[in-house]
Amino acid sequence: MLKSCCKTNMLQHWSENMDDKITFTITRRKLTELIMALVALFFAGGALASILKYLWPATSAKGDAAEIKIANADEVPTGSARKFMFNGKAAVLLHMPAGFRAFGSVCTHLGCISYWKEDEGILFCPCHLGKFDPNTGAVISGPPPSPLPAIDIVVKEGAVYALKWKDPAYVRTISFYAGAA
Ligand code: FES
Repeated sequence: MLKSCCKTNMLQHWSENMDDKITFTITRRKLTELIMALVALFFAGGALASILKYLWPATSAKGDAAEIKIANADEVPTGSARKFMFNGKAAVLLHMPAGFRAFGSVCTHLGCISYWKEDEGILFCPCHLGKFDPNTGAVISGPPPSPLPAIDIVVKEGAVYALKWKDPAYVRTISFYAGAA
């Protein structure tokens, strides 16, 4: 057991040390190495997150997404469209003369959002003038390498619901839809 005088001395010594400034020096080279290491760590973390997301996709990305109500059918008259989100991706519901259609609207070229261009009767990507068929999602012209992915829908009780990607295997091949199928 410490005597009270020793305790007092120790506390005094500790208190004096606390008043000392803590200084250290680092060379410019070491600082550069430290910054480089932090940058490398940042990018390595991002790559690791992408790998993990690929290996263990989210539940909704396995194609078992629940029904999502897009709109009441009478809110989307023939010849018009309604934007919505599906599995975290921009999508579009179209009411064609032959019935309702739905597609992911993220362009398969470089990922811009395509939209319903009523005056031309097409799905249009403004970034590089890509054009898609609103009945099938097929490429009409422009640089998109592949069709927009179709979404299965159902009309019931006066409303339109999105069910799932029509072809999840195809969706997995489109980089901008990675993790959505
Ligand atoms: S991103 Fe759509 S045409 Fe280029």
